[in-house]
Amino acid sequence: MAIREILEVPDPRLKTVSSPVTVFDAELKTLVADMFETMYDAPGIGLAAIQVGVPSRVLVIDLQPDDPDAEPEECHHDGHKHFHQPTIRQPRVFVNPEILDPADELATYQEGCLSVPEIYADVDRPATCRVRYQDLDGKVHEEDMTGLMATCIQHEMDHLEGVLFIDHLSRLKRQMALKKLQKLRQAA
Ligand code: NI
Repeated sequence: MAIREILEVPDPRLKTVSSPVTVFDAELKTLVADMFETMYDAPGIGLAAIQVGVPSRVLVIDLQPDDPDAEPEECHHDGHKHFHQPTIRQPRVFVNPEILDPADELATYQEGCLSVPEIYADVDRPATCRVRYQDLDGKVHEEDMTGLMATCIQHEMDHLEGVLFIDHLSRLKRQMALKKLQKLRQAA
């Protein structure tokens, strides 16, 4: 496994429309393993293949919810002592995902994206949706998505069409977000 470089705006490759996966081979499994390692390292809860420069319709998601039964863990970084609630790993892979019936009802989440670092903004999306997808062996599944999972998979599926969450914002808000990112990069 390897951590791959995550593309960031304004990299034009992020605007690529990704192609369907037709071969379910060892190369696909390596890509997915690398995507998980890259996502956990970032850290993030979702990643589309195009974010590591591969224009294939592949997503990985792990919402990593807090483990309510675990003791908080002490850790040290940035010279401070912190406590973190351990999380549960729930890795999910979606190949060639399609949304079947998005709800009319919308839900609003503050979204971020590993390709638009440090920028967060509220985005409205259908609150629930049914998703048809293939697993790593090419088997077809259908599943109803709700809550954060519904939002996350729609965000990741946008990447397959070359769309970023900031593209859902007004032109003014998008320009403000990109300007803020530019300033943060200059300060770094
Ligand atoms: Ni994203």
